[in-house]
Amino acid sequence: MALTMTAAETKRTRGSTVFFSVTLLLVLGGLGYMTYLWYTEHQSNVGTSAALEAKTAELAAADERIAELESTLGDIRADLAELEDDYQDEKEKNDEFEDQINAITGTVNDLDKLSKTDEELLQKYSKVSFLNENYIPSDLDEIDDEYVQDDREPEFFHADAMDFLEELLDDAADDDIDITIVSAYRSFDEQDQLKGQFTQVYGEGANAFSADQGFSEHQLGTTVDFGTSQITSAQAVFAQTEAYEWLLQNAHKYGFTLSYPENNGYYIFEPWHWRFVGEDLAEDLDDADAHFYDWDQRRIDEYLIKIFD
Ligand code: DAL
Ligand code: ZN
Repeated sequence: MALTMTAAETKRTRGSTVFFSVTLLLVLGGLGYMTYLWYTEHQSNVGTSAALEAKTAELAAADERIAELESTLGDIRADLAELEDDYQDEKEKNDEFEDQINAITGTVNDLDKLSKTDEELLQKYSKVSFLNENYIPSDLDEIDDEYVQDDREPEFFHADAMDFLEELLDDAADDDIDITIVSAYRSFDEQDQLKGQFTQVYGEGANAFSADQGFSEHQLGTTVDFGTSQITSAQAVFAQTEAYEWLLQNAHKYGFTLSYPENNGYYIFEPWHWRFVGEDLAEDLDDADAHFYDWDQRRIDEYLIKIFD
């Protein structure tokens, strides 16, 4: 066997070595490149992971802060609710106090008003209560001539009730009702003289239609006898007039009521005789189809405070 290679063998051997070397270089190069890729990717991952961790920590801190703020907000809300409750309690107390003050003020005003209102104005003066010779109404005004019967002496009426009387007569005139005043305020002495005259003519019979002095509603200054241009004194025929019919329908709206209806327990039927008792009482009596002397004094007294309202 020859120990030396032929040229062909040598050439082949060199070719294999070159091929091997190139292949090795390529493999090594590939490995190096892959290592580079892995390294750069790894480095990038490491960066991302650190950023993620940092963000996660930030998020956790933010969550914690939110939880803290929510807790603070809860506390503030609870404080607010408590304050609102306290405010409502105080407000209720204040309202209650204000109501009490108003009630007391109202009572004081009522008492003051009542103390200034003549308590005789709603008393029963038909043989029940008595007005002495010194009683005169607090304020009397002369009734305007246009409302009074012709050729009569001046007639007077309670100043505080005058507007009600005039309004009644004006409205009646607007409705073409012929109505006049025959008699209004009569003093204790005038009633005494009148009763004396009636007694001379009618004897005991006068008691059926004329009050003794001190027992006449006319002494209060809030009572009138109505007539017409034809009926110039208190007469039963007044019951047949349109004026009487109009009074029955409307007088209560102005605070007047018929004192002596048919079959009353005090005097004969007196269609002409009307007493001012205030709008509230007159309305309520009318609504109840009742008359002044039907109701007991205690019930009537409740209306005194508003008699001129
Ligand atoms: N005619 C009534 C009753 C009076 O005299 O008062
Ligand atoms: Zn009368």
